[in-house]
Amino acid sequence: MAKYLVQKSGALRGEVNISGSKNAVLPIMAASILTDELCELSEVPALRDVYVMCELLRALGVETVEDYDKNEVTLKTGKVIEIEAPYEHVNKMRASILVMGPLLARKGKAKVHLPGGCSIGARPIDLHLKGFQALGAVIKEEHGYIEAITDGLVGSNIYLDFPSVGATENIMMAATLAKGVTIIENSAQEPEIVDLANFLNRLGAKIKGAGTDTIKIEGVENLKGCKHSIIPDRIETGTFMVAAAMTRGEVLIKNIVPDHVKPITAKLKECGAVIDITDEGMLVRGDVNPLVATDIKTLPYPGFPTDMQSQFMAMLLTTEGESNVIETVFENRYMHVGELNRMGANIKTDGNKAIIQGKMKLKGAEVIATDLRGGAAVVLAGLVADGTTEISEIYHLERGYEKFVEKFRNIGATIMKMED
Ligand code: EPZ
Repeated sequence: MAKYLVQKSGALRGEVNISGSKNAVLPIMAASILTDELCELSEVPALRDVYVMCELLRALGVETVEDYDKNEVTLKTGKVIEIEAPYEHVNKMRASILVMGPLLARKGKAKVHLPGGCSIGARPIDLHLKGFQALGAVIKEEHGYIEAITDGLVGSNIYLDFPSVGATENIMMAATLAKGVTIIENSAQEPEIVDLANFLNRLGAKIKGAGTDTIKIEGVENLKGCKHSIIPDRIETGTFMVAAAMTRGEVLIKNIVPDHVKPITAKLKECGAVIDITDEGMLVRGDVNPLVATDIKTLPYPGFPTDMQSQFMAMLLTTEGESNVIETVFENRYMHVGELNRMGANIKTDGNKAIIQGKMKLKGAEVIATDLRGGAAVVLAGLVADGTTEISEIYHLERGYEKFVEKFRNIGATIMKMED
């Protein structure tokens, strides 16, 4: 199995360019099913999850042309498309469930293998299905498949028990071709929802309120094609912000949307990092003040993002004092804690709470990437730990970070990929 070898790297210095957002491009690719015209996407990150989504769309009958040197993907869904997302794709990537809303809207039928849970939680899809039922679909579950059928979706008012990102996206996509108006209340407000809504409106949909807790979708007869550029990845941005701060470095992070990382910026400043927004990007400095402990509580956007919890925890290991973390979004998102403790950290967890002692002497160890963001956390810890940290199960990382090793090496990190 391929591994990453990471050594103590000193202060990271230089520039890094952020890639397109994984969590924006995946729903947008699924949304291309809604039209039989050409969708041309740019700023598409070259990630395993994107390759898997392309595979799934091809299995459904979508024509795809991928040029990852130019970060461009074009998608064209003809008249005839399959309606079943096979197990092997859904099993590889939970986001496959996002084809359900578009298939239901376009074909009146969708059959998707139930996505498994994953290391960070059970991740049910009950809110997605409740939304489809509210729009007039009949849901059946058999042999591990979920089937949704309708003889025509009709707009409805839907109140989400939890501002689920995926449920908001799936329902919004389904509602674009429903008869009448759909209102989604307590909707997720993430920037990826706004990017998807912008894409859908470019196709000719009529969506208002994306980015707030109430989204209104006026159904239309059909949709056309469009060109769309994917927003920068705010979690990749946050990962490099934390890397610059915790190594006491100075890194200019380019191609970012400062508003999308406000909660991370606020927290890093609380710890003593100096962050300046220039017209070139965001300059993050960890070498101005001593970094001090702080507390974080993950919340749906615009709260502190759960996808930054593990990376921020790695940084808290280097700060003066004791920090408290509360993870409110996923029920099992401390898988990385055991790996960090094996590197000499002193983190105690109790349910969704974690207490982190700062200023621990970290030492390199053989660890695993427990999940995508947990993997980023052990890489970050390896940058400040004595000796060498050997990280296996790195496929998790390569799902969600484009040119991960190259970008870190370009700012002075001692990291290399060892093939089997
Ligand atoms: C999206 O997952 C992201 N993935 C996740 O990023 C991110 O952590 C998450 O949103 C929260 O921001 C993509 O966009 C591809 P949710 P999603 O539905 O849509 C519960 C990463 O690292 N829930 O907002 O699956 C669920 O169990 C990944 O890039 C239900 O109970 O997240 C969880 O506890 C990890 N029923 C909470 O809501 C449902 O029907 C948040 O889930 C749906 C969700």
